[in-house]
Amino acid sequence: MALIMAIETSCDETSAAVVRDGVDILSNIISSQIDIHKKFGGVVPEVASRKHLELINGVIQEALDTAGVGFSSLDAVAAASGPGLVGALLVGVSAAKAMAYALDIPLIAVNHLEGHIHANFLVEPRLEFPLICLVVSGGHTDLVVMSGHGSYRVVGRTRDDAAGEAFDKVARTMGLGYPGGPLVDRLAASGNGSAVPLPRAYLEEGSLDFSFSGLKSAVINYLHRARQRVEETNLADLAASFQQAVVDVLVNKTLEAAELYKARTILLAGGVAANSFLRSSMTAAASKYGLRLAYPPGILCTDNAAMIACAAYYRYLRGDFSDLTLNAVPGLELDEHNC
Ligand code: KG4
Ligand code: ZN
Repeated sequence: MALIMAIETSCDETSAAVVRDGVDILSNIISSQIDIHKKFGGVVPEVASRKHLELINGVIQEALDTAGVGFSSLDAVAAASGPGLVGALLVGVSAAKAMAYALDIPLIAVNHLEGHIHANFLVEPRLEFPLICLVVSGGHTDLVVMSGHGSYRVVGRTRDDAAGEAFDKVARTMGLGYPGGPLVDRLAASGNGSAVPLPRAYLEEGSLDFSFSGLKSAVINYLHRARQRVEETNLADLAASFQQAVVDVLVNKTLEAAELYKARTILLAGGVAANSFLRSSMTAAASKYGLRLAYPPGILCTDNAAMIACAAYYRYLRGDFSDLTLNAVPGLELDEHNC
């Protein structure tokens, strides 16, 4: 049995969780800074690090209290060490190092994207390898072949904007607010996804890479043109058409990857995995091709420490520990060893 505390501070959520054996979430405290960054239209890195510093001790204590355990019951402590904002990551990494040293327990470094993928294992630990994981967040759009815990190969990635970034920028131009993904998702529900013709970038034949900047610019140009002509824009139709264009490419490339790498199971992970249209479209596609699809509940899609604790559990079983020289690595790759 292993009781692991994990800390997640890679962007604008300060989170600490206590998870038993990679499945029992005893606590998962998430303190979001969204209201602070909202007024700037996006995350301000310096503000985020300072806020993490103010919040971290209280969030750790709350995670212990909610779990009903003390520091002395912990078997290991983990932190996301990258990728993310360096000043933000450092707060979580330093807190975890201090705890590991003071309690004399193993320190486990987790890749943030590995954490997102493991949100699925919190719910269903018996998923069959190899898996194709579509990791879609504010900073990443990656297709990953996972052949075991700790074994990842990135076979496709975005060449420009991440899917979540495109959602956020389009939402900002539409005047919807921040973060844009959930707002576009909600608005699109009442729109027609075929109303506005928008481009879909499939890149070269056989490529599993993505590109969303052309689509993003097309939406922004469409809005600017309409404003210049003083024409009324149906924002729900535009949101639905944008979302349809993003999701079409995500679904098609994920299916292509599953076929190429002979995977029978697809996982969705990251903030954009909360998107209702992506979920329903991928569900329909998976059932058409007889594939199994898993995605985490909404609260485990966006940044949280329980997913970090789950990934840490499998590193714990392998004895994959870090020493106190562990540092934050803002550009950490998923297939790179981060200890
Ligand atoms: O994984 P995450 O919490 O943070 C990063 O690691 O980036 O993802 C945040 C991203 C934001 O871009 C946000 O707009 C997007 O996920 N997002 C969504 C939805 N919920 C969150 N995008 C589309 N539809 C949603 N329902
Ligand atoms: Zn994330």
